[in-house]
Amino acid sequence: MDTAGLFDADVAVAAALVDMCDQPLFPVERAAIANACPSRIAEFRAGRQCAHLALERLGLTATAIAASSARAPCWPAGVVGSISHTDEFAISAVARSQSYAGVGVDVEAAGELDASLVDLICGPVERAGMRMMSPGQARLQAKTIFSIKESVFKCQFPLTGVWLEFTDIEVAIAFDRTSFEAVLLRDAGPLRRGRIVCGRLRETEDYVLSSAWLRDLNMPCCGRRAQQASAA
Ligand SMILES: CC(C)(COP(=O)(O)OP(=O)(O)OC[C@H]1O[C@@H](n2cnc3c(N)ncnc32)[C@H](O)[C@@H]1OP(=O)(O)O)[C@@H](O)C(=O)NCCC(=O)NCCS
Repeated sequence: MDTAGLFDADVAVAAALVDMCDQPLFPVERAAIANACPSRIAEFRAGRQCAHLALERLGLTATAIAASSARAPCWPAGVVGSISHTDEFAISAVARSQSYAGVGVDVEAAGELDASLVDLICGPVERAGMRMMSPGQARLQAKTIFSIKESVFKCQFPLTGVWLEFTDIEVAIAFDRTSFEAVLLRDAGPLRRGRIVCGRLRETEDYVLSSAWLRDLNMPCCGRRAQQASAA
């Protein structure tokens, strides 16, 4: 999986096949999955291995990454980051907190989103954009929107502690399908309604991969979509 360009160069990224990850975990990490089944242990280990490598790529020593009570990774001081995995593939992205307020990453197996989930994941504007698509294309689009919203969720949660609903975020994918803007449709802690979260997108035969970041917590609303959301 080519992850180049998923973030700017000041974000360190590491990715690996789950089956290839056999590095030992730190004791606090092992404790977090003490009673888990083998597939969960494998994906957790792969995510942590990618995170350790990403920390090293950022110029830091790989340290234990515990899990919070909300399951979010506990990064070392001065670092923000995110982890994602499927059964087969894991990825982690980390950055210095002096440059980023948050980063999020998500990987999903390619394919259509279950039809029963489309209305849960996609709001009215997103569903309106699917009306010109075939039912299959619309469900593929919904899978991509799902991944983007998971990335945005993971980017904002460590900052806000807010359990956003899928329809609290509205996604607009760029024409070339390599980037997106996601606008918050409600306040989330210090992030005001109308706040835009930017990110990038990779869609391959096997995976949908998305990234999201917030550079400056205090940046005001910007852009046409943010103004529309604020005015609504
Ligand atoms: C957290 C969540 C987004 C993870 O997504 P997922 O597709 O199930 O799984 P992924 O492999 O992509 O990500 C899992 C990783 O996310 C990270 N994660 C879990 N909870 C998190 C949180 N609250 N904040 C940030 N990161 C979190 C963890 O590193 C986890 O892997 P690990 O347990 O092995 O460390 C999802 O499980 C969840 O809890 N969603 C509820 C909130 C939501 O989705 N709201 C709507 C979106 S706006």
